[in-house]
Amino acid sequence: MVMILAVMLVMLVVVSMLPFLAKRLSAADVKKVDGPEKKEPPVTAYWNPPDSLAIPATPEGDLIRYGRELVAHTAVYLGPAGKVNQTTNGMNCQNCHLKAGKKVFGNNYSAVSSTYPRLRARSGTVETIQKRVNDCIERSLNGKPLKDGSRELNALIAYISWVGKDVEKGVSPPGVGIWDLPLMERAASPEKGKLVFDEHCALCHGTDGMGVKNENGKEWKYPPLWGEESYNTGAGLFRLSRFAGYVKSNMPNGATFDNPILTDEEAWDVAAYVNSMPRPHKTFKADWPDISKKPFDHPFGPYADTFSESQHKFGPFRPIKNPKATLGAK
Ligand code: HEC
Ligand code: HEC
Repeated sequence: MVMILAVMLVMLVVVSMLPFLAKRLSAADVKKVDGPEKKEPPVTAYWNPPDSLAIPATPEGDLIRYGRELVAHTAVYLGPAGKVNQTTNGMNCQNCHLKAGKKVFGNNYSAVSSTYPRLRARSGTVETIQKRVNDCIERSLNGKPLKDGSRELNALIAYISWVGKDVEKGVSPPGVGIWDLPLMERAASPEKGKLVFDEHCALCHGTDGMGVKNENGKEWKYPPLWGEESYNTGAGLFRLSRFAGYVKSNMPNGATFDNPILTDEEAWDVAAYVNSMPRPHKTFKADWPDISKKPFDHPFGPYADTFSESQHKFGPFRPIKNPKATLGAK
């Protein structure tokens, strides 16, 4: 009798564990399924943004909240029909700095307050957060810089600093900014990219890539990827590695770095296609005082090396990044 009871007990335990075993098995299997390669960065503890509900109920807190509002709804305040002024192209900071700058690998603001002021090669100067914010306004928002000391600029700085308040000085936490995709051996292809665009992007951004406005007509439901209302040629996204890295871990909207939809190749190719389409052209004469500091994918010469503008724009980038290794390798 005792034996029978004991056997039944063991069976019960085994049966009750079956669902867990099955679950573990299927989770392991899913990882093996072919699809977009998941080259996850070798860290597991990603940056954790602070909760916006915890912004203090103080005058400083009010400034932070106004900054958050400006990031999320820039166009309502500074767009072509803005309440405060009309100095930007109608995009919101949040169109690119997802979840108001709080999404892991969604071009977040985690390392701004911890790493600014910072020496930046583009200007060859030590840049403050003010300068960096106005850089995005002049390039990504194709607009006019906000005045030093204006309530809007102060609010943006207050919010961006608050987002990174728990990050130690000098540290860029895991998940910061934009994911650096592995380079391809070949050049990125606008022709292949058009196929990716038609399949994965046109649905929202429009077959003409020029976006769709929302009900109030002031903000974008789906922001433009090219055309007069898009970022200009001096913007970060005009560099292929920035665009491809951003898209890989965020687009189609809803993708994340640990659940991407595009393969790396598709991300590079769609970047090549989008950045071949027309957009506002703006030259910043003071950029790159030392041309040897230009990033490998800066698409405008002159360069300190002998690679063409086209190779700096589309790749292959490996020979540019590491010319010696390429000479030696067969
Ligand atoms: C069209 C896309 C786009 C828009 C719109 C945009 N940005 Fe950016 N922003 C970028 C890109 C790309 C970078 C560079 C990221 C990188 O190289 O890792 C950047 C970088 C920044 C940085 C520096 C981040 C760092 O860690 O160094 C700040 C600060 C910033 N943006 C603020 C803003 C603000 C404020 C607005 C709105 C007024 C704005 N941006 C609008 C694309 C955009
Ligand atoms: C399901 C709809 C949807 C699809 C599909 C989609 N996007 Fe987006 N995309 C968005 C939305 C919405 C935003 C703005 C996010 C926000 O404001 O929170 C955005 C923002 C962007 C941005 C930054 C803002 C800008 O306009 O420059 C880029 C770049 C981008 N998408 C590229 C792509 C590419 C490339 C694809 C195809 C691989 C794609 N998206 C597919 C909805 C989509």
